[in-house]
Amino acid sequence: MCGIIGYVGNRNAPDVIIQGLRYLEYRGYDSSGIAVWSGEKFDLVKTKGRIADLEKELLKTPVSGHLAIGHTRWATHGCPADRNAHPFVSYNSRFAVVHNGIIENYLEIKDELQKKGVVFTSETDSEVIAHLLESLDHGDVKRAVLDATARLKGAYAIGIICADDPDVLYAVRKDNPLVVGVTESDGFICSDINSIQKFLTEVVVLENGQVAKVERGRVELFDFDGNDVEAKFIALGSLEESDRKDFECYMDKEIKEIPTALANAIATYRNGAFNRIDKKYLRRIRRINVVACGTALHAGLYGERMIKKYLKKIDVTSEAASEFRYGDPKVDDRTLTITVSQSGETADTLVCQNMVRNLGGKTLTICNVETSSMVRSSDYALFTSAGPEVAVASTKAYNCQCLVFLLFVLDLARLRGEIDEFAYKNLQADIDALPEIAARTLKVAPQVARFANKNYTRKSVFYIGRGLDYCTAMEGSLKLKEISYIHCEAYPAGELKHGTLALIEEGVLVIALVTQKELVTKSASGLEEVKSRGANVLAITPFYDRPAIAAVSDYRIKLPDVNEDLYPIISVIPTQLLAYYIARAKGCDIDKPRNLAKSVTVE
Ligand code: M6R
Repeated sequence: MCGIIGYVGNRNAPDVIIQGLRYLEYRGYDSSGIAVWSGEKFDLVKTKGRIADLEKELLKTPVSGHLAIGHTRWATHGCPADRNAHPFVSYNSRFAVVHNGIIENYLEIKDELQKKGVVFTSETDSEVIAHLLESLDHGDVKRAVLDATARLKGAYAIGIICADDPDVLYAVRKDNPLVVGVTESDGFICSDINSIQKFLTEVVVLENGQVAKVERGRVELFDFDGNDVEAKFIALGSLEESDRKDFECYMDKEIKEIPTALANAIATYRNGAFNRIDKKYLRRIRRINVVACGTALHAGLYGERMIKKYLKKIDVTSEAASEFRYGDPKVDDRTLTITVSQSGETADTLVCQNMVRNLGGKTLTICNVETSSMVRSSDYALFTSAGPEVAVASTKAYNCQCLVFLLFVLDLARLRGEIDEFAYKNLQADIDALPEIAARTLKVAPQVARFANKNYTRKSVFYIGRGLDYCTAMEGSLKLKEISYIHCEAYPAGELKHGTLALIEEGVLVIALVTQKELVTKSASGLEEVKSRGANVLAITPFYDRPAIAAVSDYRIKLPDVNEDLYPIISVIPTQLLAYYIARAKGCDIDKPRNLAKSVTVE
C-alpha cells in the first residue's frame, strides 16, 4: 500500500517520477504527489485522486529538476485529501519525505515536536518523519537519517531527499519493499522494480533494516547502526510487462488469460513440483499450516482440502494470516508453513512467514512474483507463473494458486507413497486438460454478461456451496463485493438454516456452486429452502439437466465436465466474470475499486 519512487540524475526527474507512479498506482490511488528540488527549494505538487489528476496539476504548475521523489497513497492515517498527500516537507523546508507503511509511535513523536513549536499540516503518521529528520539534522544528513530511523517504530519504506545533499536519494527499509538501482547518470529508489525496470539492467533489493544512499552511478548500503553492508545487485533479465491492449480493463484481460496462465503453470511443473525442495524433509513433514489473505487464502483453503484428501498422515490447518500470528500456532521442525500470495509483499502473510521461521519451522511460498519479499525470505518457493496481474481484483493468479497447490500436494503424496501411480497419472492427465477446459468455460461470458445486465441492481447476494464448492463460493463472493460494492456473503450451503436463512427474502439472489456429484441432492434441498423463501437462484453447475437442480434454479450456467477435484479451478471462472460484468453494468472503476490497493503492505 502506497508506492514510493525517487530519482536523481541527468533526466528531467518529474518525467521519471510520473512514469514510475503510473506503474505504482496499483499500490494505492487515494492521492499522489511529487517534490522536486528546483536548485533553491522543494517544489511540491500533490493532489487527492489518481496519477492522472496529478498530471493535470503538473500541467497547471510545471516543475523540473534532477532530484525528485513521488508517492501514490492508500490512506491509513488521515482521509484521502490534498493535505494528507505525500511528499511532506519539513518545517524548515530542508527535507522532503515519502513513506509507505505505518509509523506506530507517530503520536508520541508528533507530541514532542509540537511542544518544540513544529506545526503539522496533515493527519498522517508520515509527516512526523520529515520534521523528525529536520530536528535531528546537525549538518550530517546520513546521521540524521540513521537517528530518525532509530526513533521510528512500525513498518516503513521511506524515500528522503535533502536540500543540503541535492545529488543524493536516501532510502530506508523496515518491513516494506524497497528497491534501488543506478546507471552512470541516474539513481533510483522505488517500491516495485516494475516502475524503474526500463532504465536498468540490475537492481539491489534492500533487506529489512537497511539504509541506502543513492547517487548517479553509486549505491552505498548501511545497517541501522550505520555499518557498511555489501550491495548485492541482481540482474533484471526480461521482466514481463502487462499491456492492457484492446481489453476494456485489466480484469477483463486477466480473466481471458486464465487458460494461458494455467498452461504456463502446468509447463513449469511438468517435471515435478519440488525439484529444488529437500526430499528428506518433505518425507518427514507431520503438520502443514496454510497462511494467506483474501483471494490467496481461498486458494489456501482449497489446498487444505486437497491435503486432507491426499496426505492423510499430515495434519493441516489454514488460517487468515492476520489471525494466524495471534493464534499460538503449532510449529516445529516437522511443520511446513505454506504461504500463498500473488504479490509476495502482503504484510500480514510476510510477518507470519518470518514468525514461523523464528519458531524453527520451514516455509514454502506459492507466489506469483519471483523477486518478492516472500520468495526471498522463504525456505522454498513455487511460482504460480500466472504472469503480471494488475487489476486489484485477483483472478488468474487464483486459478494458478489452486493449480500449483494441487500439483504440490499430488507430488508430495507420490513422494510419500500416499497416492498410487495410476491415480496420480490419471489426475495429471486431467490437469493437462485444464487450459482447454478453462477456455471452454470462458465461452459462458456472453450469458454471464446478460445475466449481469439484468441483476446488477441487487442489494443482497449470497454465494453458497458445499465441500470444495464452499471455497469457490467464498472467492466468488469476495470478487463481487470487491469490485461491484454489492453486499454479498458466502456460506456453506448447509449452514444457512442455522441463522442466516432469516435474511432470505424476495429480491435476494442466491448463487449456488454445485459441482460435487455426491452433494447434488443435498445442495438441491438447500436451494429449495431459499427459493421457497422468495430468493432467486442461479446455479453454476455441470449438472445442468438434473431435474433436482432444474427444479430449484431460476437460472443456470453450465460448467464443462472435469475431474471433481479440479472444479474450483474452473467453476470460479463464471464467478469472476459475473463480478466483472456486474461492476461494469454499475459503472464501477473495475481495476481500481474504492478503498483498496493491489498490494497490502500494512498489517
Ligand atoms: O498479494 P496477495 O495475494 O498476498 O494479496 C492478498 C489479498 O490482499 C488479495 O488476494 C485480495 O484479497 C485481492 N484483492 C482479492 O481480489
